[in-house]
Amino acid sequence: MGVGILGTGHYVPPEVLTNQDLEKMVDTNDEWIRTRTGISERRIAGDNIKNSDMAYEAALDALNEANIKAEDIGLILVATVTGDTPMPSTACIIQERLGAKQAAAMDIGAACSGFIYGMVTASKFIETNMYKHVLVIGVEKLSKITDWTDRNTCVLFGDGAGAVVMGEVGENLGILSIDLGANGAGGKHLYEDEHNHLIQNGREVFKFAVRKVPDSVSNAIEKANITKEEVDFLVPHQANIRIMNAARERIGISEEKMAQSIVKYGNTSAASIPIALSEEVKNGKIKDQDVVVLVGFGGGLTWGSVVLRWGR
Ligand code: UT7
Repeated sequence: MGVGILGTGHYVPPEVLTNQDLEKMVDTNDEWIRTRTGISERRIAGDNIKNSDMAYEAALDALNEANIKAEDIGLILVATVTGDTPMPSTACIIQERLGAKQAAAMDIGAACSGFIYGMVTASKFIETNMYKHVLVIGVEKLSKITDWTDRNTCVLFGDGAGAVVMGEVGENLGILSIDLGANGAGGKHLYEDEHNHLIQNGREVFKFAVRKVPDSVSNAIEKANITKEEVDFLVPHQANIRIMNAARERIGISEEKMAQSIVKYGNTSAASIPIALSEEVKNGKIKDQDVVVLVGFGGGLTWGSVVLRWGR
C-alpha cells in the first residue's frame, strides 16, 4: 500500500484587495507588482474571520471530498505561523469544532514550507500504522502581521487556508519521495519583528529560492526514480511567479502544467500549496495516475518537496 491524499479542500475569505487598492495605500503600482511578482489581487480576512475559521472551512471541504468522518481522524496537523493564539493551538481549536474526538492535535511552524513538513510528518504516522487518517491544514492570516505602510512586503501577502486528508492509498499510488531541508543561518532574511510585523530581505530570499527550489525538486525527482518528463503537474509555493517559473523550467514542463493561483491570492505562506492543489483537483487539471510535484520554501529558512502519484 501507499500513503497519499484522500481529499483536498480550501477556503479563501471573500474580501478582495487589488493592486489598484494598494496604489492608494503605499507608493507602488499595478505594473510593478504584476511584473515583479505575478500578483494581481489577494484576499483579506478582516476583523471577523479568524485563522481558525478559515482552517475549519478548508478542513470541512477536504473531509467532504475524502468522504471521511471527523471522528475517523487520528491526528490533526496545522501548519501556521499566524494562529489565533499561540495556545491553544489552531489544531486543538479545529479538533473541537470538527468534533474529531479521537484526534491528537498540534501546530507545525515551518513558515511557507509548513504544509510540506506537515504532509511528510503525517505520512510517517500513517506508514507506521499509528494513525489511519491524518488531517493536514495549511492556514495563514498574514494580514495581521503585515506592515501596511511597507511597500516591500505589503503587496505580497494574502489570507487563506487549504487542507488534505491523508491515508492509505493503492499500490504504486501516493508519495513516491520527499526532500526536506533547513538553513537557520538564513533566518535573518525573513522574520517577525518585536512589533509583530513580517520583515523580509526580498533579494536574499529570492536568491535562496531560485537556487534551492529547483535543487529540491531535482533531488525529489531523482529519489522517486522517475524522469523529469514523467512529471504531469507542479504545485509550487505561490511566492513569486519568477521563482515558480525557474523551478518549472528546470523540470522542463510547460506553463499550463503549473498551478498559478498567485495571481488572485498572492502569497498565503503555508496555505498556498494546499489551496492551489485543491483548486487544480476540483477543476480537473490533476487526474488519477498523474505524477504531481509539490515544493515549498520560506522562513527559517526552510524548504521541502513531495513527489506523488495521484489517486486513492
Ligand atoms: O514566501 C516566503 C518566501 N518569499 C519570497 O519568495 C520572496 C522572494 N523575493 C521576491 O519575491 C522579490 O525579491 C520581491 C518581489 C520581494 C522584490 O522584487 P525584486 O525584483 O527583488 O525587487 P527589489 O527588492 O530588488 O527592488 C527593486 C526596486 C527597489 O527600488 P530601487 O532601490 O531599485 O530604486 C525597490 O525600492 O523596486 C522597489 N520596490 C517597489 N516599487 C514599487 C520595492 N517594492 C516596491 C513596490 N512597488 N511594492
